[in-house]
Amino acid sequence: MPSVGQTTRPFWLTTLSKLEGMTKPNLFSGMQPSSGSLHLGNYLGALVNWVKLQDEFNAFYCVVDLHAITVPQDPAVLRANTRLTAAQYLAAGIDPARSSLFVQSHVAAHSQLAWVLNTITGFGEAGRMTQFKDKSQKGGVESASVGLFTYPMLMAADILLYQSKAVPVGEDQRQHLELTRDLAERFNSRFGQTFTIPEAVILKETAKIYDLQNPDAKMSKSAADTKGLVNIMDDNSTIVKKFKSAVTDTDGEIRFDRAAKPGVSNLLGIFSAISGHTVQELETRFAGAGYGTLKGDLADLVVATIEPIRDRTNALLADQAELDRLLSAAADRASEVAEATLKQVNDRLGLLPKA
Ligand code: AMP
Ligand code: TRP
Repeated sequence: MPSVGQTTRPFWLTTLSKLEGMTKPNLFSGMQPSSGSLHLGNYLGALVNWVKLQDEFNAFYCVVDLHAITVPQDPAVLRANTRLTAAQYLAAGIDPARSSLFVQSHVAAHSQLAWVLNTITGFGEAGRMTQFKDKSQKGGVESASVGLFTYPMLMAADILLYQSKAVPVGEDQRQHLELTRDLAERFNSRFGQTFTIPEAVILKETAKIYDLQNPDAKMSKSAADTKGLVNIMDDNSTIVKKFKSAVTDTDGEIRFDRAAKPGVSNLLGIFSAISGHTVQELETRFAGAGYGTLKGDLADLVVATIEPIRDRTNALLADQAELDRLLSAAADRASEVAEATLKQVNDRLGLLPKA
């Protein structure tokens, strides 16, 4: 039976957390401010884990606006989405007293270290990044920016500036993490020990959420039809409507079978991820009930989870000065760490310090 919503933790992560009295290791992750609202997949697949990781790590969570501009952005929309993204993370439980949630462009060291890393990256090495190949082919290689090409080195700079031990990311970012490790090792061996070698924390068995209308596809912000996409910023009646019209099947049995019953399995998976009950417990609970009952109960549960997050997000956005102050204070804290690393890097490279 699949264990939906449970995570496999690397052994060292568990070990590290047991070393009491030790200062917490650093963790870094980034999210693009490229869409208005986070969806249920982002929330259950990533954000819930980020909130938990704050207990064991000194976490740096970064809204990566400089990565976002590697593809064209409308300036007003980018500014609004940067605040909205930050507000949703804070609303979902990123604690500004424990973690630094900040905007990438507020800490100049990211761009500065990215330049240095560009100079030790091979052209062919960067050209092998599959995300660049995919993204540049989509819009035509001629119109792809050089920024899109150097995106992975900016990401490596993000991570290495904070001497990060752990980097939670989706599977699609694994290759960028490998490049980051290679660059860190290369710099360390050429110029002396400078960077911590980071580890990817890929939460493989974490809740993968599928589209409610097309349950064979991952829930995604780029879905052509938004009927199967549940956004954190959707109002309650929209959320209920989306669950009520979720695609199921005709055999009428509430049973987890990803291959034969993708729609019902997805509903059970979401239920399990939110409630903490196993899929087996849910099968027992709903034995003999109709799909309507499952959908109704699940819609209520999702609304009860999302509504407070949406309300807190709106409250944060309503007090923009306070939100900006939180982001600014976090950027100051992040800068201290980042500047210390950058200073060491520049020194090792032989860049003349400014008198
Ligand atoms: P994206 O919106 O694709 O940039 O993803 C941001 C984060 O959310 C990544 O860590 C993804 O692994 C996670 N994520 C995105 N879509 C889903 C989904 N449908 N189910 C679970 N996790 C997801
Ligand atoms: N490239 C990541 C993504 O699209 C976002 C990102 C930027 C990131 N910098 C990072 C993730 C550093 C982890 C660490 O999901």
